[in-house]
Amino acid sequence: MKKFAILFIALAVVGTGAFAQAKAKIGVSIYKFDDTFMSYVRGKIESEAKAASTTISVQDGQGDQSKQNDITDLFLTQGYNSLAINMVEPASANVLIQKAAAKKVPLVLFNREPGDLDLAKFPNVYYVGAKAQESGTMEGTIAANYWKKTPAADKNKDGTMQYVMLIGDPANTDAKYRTEFSIKAVKAAGIKVEELAADTAMWQRGDAQNKMQAWLAKFGDKIEMVFANNDDMALGAIEALKAAGYFTAGKYMPVVGVDATPPALDALKQGTLLGTVLNDAVNQGKATYDLAAQLGAGSKTIKTVAPLANKDGQPDANGHYVWVPYQMVTK
Ligand code: GAL
Ligand code: CA
Repeated sequence: MKKFAILFIALAVVGTGAFAQAKAKIGVSIYKFDDTFMSYVRGKIESEAKAASTTISVQDGQGDQSKQNDITDLFLTQGYNSLAINMVEPASANVLIQKAAAKKVPLVLFNREPGDLDLAKFPNVYYVGAKAQESGTMEGTIAANYWKKTPAADKNKDGTMQYVMLIGDPANTDAKYRTEFSIKAVKAAGIKVEELAADTAMWQRGDAQNKMQAWLAKFGDKIEMVFANNDDMALGAIEALKAAGYFTAGKYMPVVGVDATPPALDALKQGTLLGTVLNDAVNQGKATYDLAAQLGAGSKTIKTVAPLANKDGQPDANGHYVWVPYQMVTK
């Protein structure tokens, strides 16, 4: 009887699927095309849409929230029936949610989490991303593991890890939690820490290189660990370190990042990057596409790479979040 009931429900779901016919027409905007990690997420959204012959338009927010608001208005007047937005300013979620709700169009926010809002409160608004705390913890764990097995890492032998921190966009949840949780993990491993410097480099390689160059001039080998909220900034720091003679003739500085982008994996192989955390662009892109396509087509059930969950990460069939897991990556 039970089996029969399950079969019946399954058929009913397939049945409604077959009648939910509207085809999704998806309007996507990225906070800024000129962002390494987001370019991989975008690539996956585009390739999924292409494979399914879904109509899609992908626009560049150019780091300007008012521009992104205009893009959203245009999508809505042009009859797009589903929106996927990687917000420029996560604090402006309310504005975008209202715009979409006014036209009864579903909205999938992705990669930049709207801080305090619980999206389950809004019908048809979802978030796809990764738990930033998790990436911070993993990054800190990589640093702690290295420290514990490498006595020479404590260059001044004071029993404390002196570090510098390269921060992403400070208005961003990922930046905030990676900064906090990386250091929490080091402390939790029983290691004392001292922050020599911390500053934003806005997720960017060039800015990070400049910051690191200045810190090296000021602190030199007093720095014992470099944390970066993402790989692009880690790679910028590595450029500055190379220019200062590191990574040759036994001169070394551990640098950790997040993302596991292809250039970062090259640096890992070369031994300049100590470790990173896989921020799964492919599955974030796939989940974003899946949600936007299914919601746009009026589907009542959502299927994607991970189960629907609540804001805290607990699986919940009525949840409005899809959390894509991170993974530690070392050589
Ligand atoms: C993060 C990623 C960064 C940057 C940022 C943009 O998840 O690690 O590299 O892309 O998103 O908000
Ligand atoms: Ca020390």
